[in-house]
Amino acid sequence: MLLDQHGRQIKYLRLAVTDRCNLRCRYCMPEEGIAFAAREALLDYDEILFLTGVLSRMGVEKVRLTGGEPLVRRELTTLVEGLGKQFPKLAMTTNGILLPRYLEELMAHGLRTYNLSLDTLRPERFTRITRRDNFEGTMAALRLLLEAGCRTKINMVVMRGINDDELFDFVELTRDEELDVRFIEAMPFNDDDGNHDVFLSYDAMRLRLLERYPDLIRDQEQGGSAVTFQVPGYRGRVAIIPAYSRSLCGTCDRLRLTPRGTMLNCLYSTQGLELLPLLRSGISEEELESLIREYVYGKYASGHETERREQQGNIFASMTSIGG
Ligand code: 5AD
Ligand code: SF4
Repeated sequence: MLLDQHGRQIKYLRLAVTDRCNLRCRYCMPEEGIAFAAREALLDYDEILFLTGVLSRMGVEKVRLTGGEPLVRRELTTLVEGLGKQFPKLAMTTNGILLPRYLEELMAHGLRTYNLSLDTLRPERFTRITRRDNFEGTMAALRLLLEAGCRTKINMVVMRGINDDELFDFVELTRDEELDVRFIEAMPFNDDDGNHDVFLSYDAMRLRLLERYPDLIRDQEQGGSAVTFQVPGYRGRVAIIPAYSRSLCGTCDRLRLTPRGTMLNCLYSTQGLELLPLLRSGISEEELESLIREYVYGKYASGHETERREQQGNIFASMTSIGG
């Protein structure tokens, strides 16, 4: 078992496999991209699987592949095959554009749970937000996932004045489809990413939903990083993720690994455990396990606390450096 000092059991690894992406969403990356990691600065698949093998023996049950866009990493299916042997639960967060090429193989390796990043249902707006003209790519992935029977959630980063007039359109997607729509608070990453200006809080979103859907019910089963609701009679569900308000830290069960091999015990961590040099110098499984145990034990009670203790300035340039 992997426990932190507040008694939370860590069971879920968010594994960012690349910091690159085939889109340039405004809330996430500048137009020109960021200083992407060179190939040799990334953990390779053998290094990742050595590490995840240790984590799996320590009680981590679920791995979510993130990025950047995970599907832009070369031969990702090879890694997924290895992870499928180590973990009962696999998931991926993707913009879906490359999914048609890989879905069948990914599913065969046990990856049947997908969060699709989709911030608007309007093609021109998609182009404006992502700086790429590929609305159809993501929509095709959505249809494909539903046809294939994959567990599917849509992630919408809600931005005031940009796409917040579409909240109800997204809710309506859950009327007839077995689909979750998740509204995410836009997290400011640095002072000039514009996310402060468009911020819409969890509370504001909830109030808007209740105004339109007064009999919205809060799910009995809660957990994870979202508060989940359902419109009575609708097949799917609606959730809000307080990524910035950080009201769900008390039940946090997650750990992160960046593409460069830094382990982070919070979304707001900036001082993680650098595993790449250790993995390259042939650390034993026992040594690795004890270092991880000690690092995870120190996880702070909340993302606010982590921010207070660890953040001096804005160290990460983008969500793609840490995997969302
Ligand atoms: N705020 C909130 N979520 C973000 N993501 C990326 N940047 C941000 C941000 N600033 C998340 C979105 C997207 C996924 C790839 O990463 O959920 O769907
Ligand atoms: Fe967990 Fe940190 Fe997110 Fe809170 S802010 S839910 S502690 S990862």
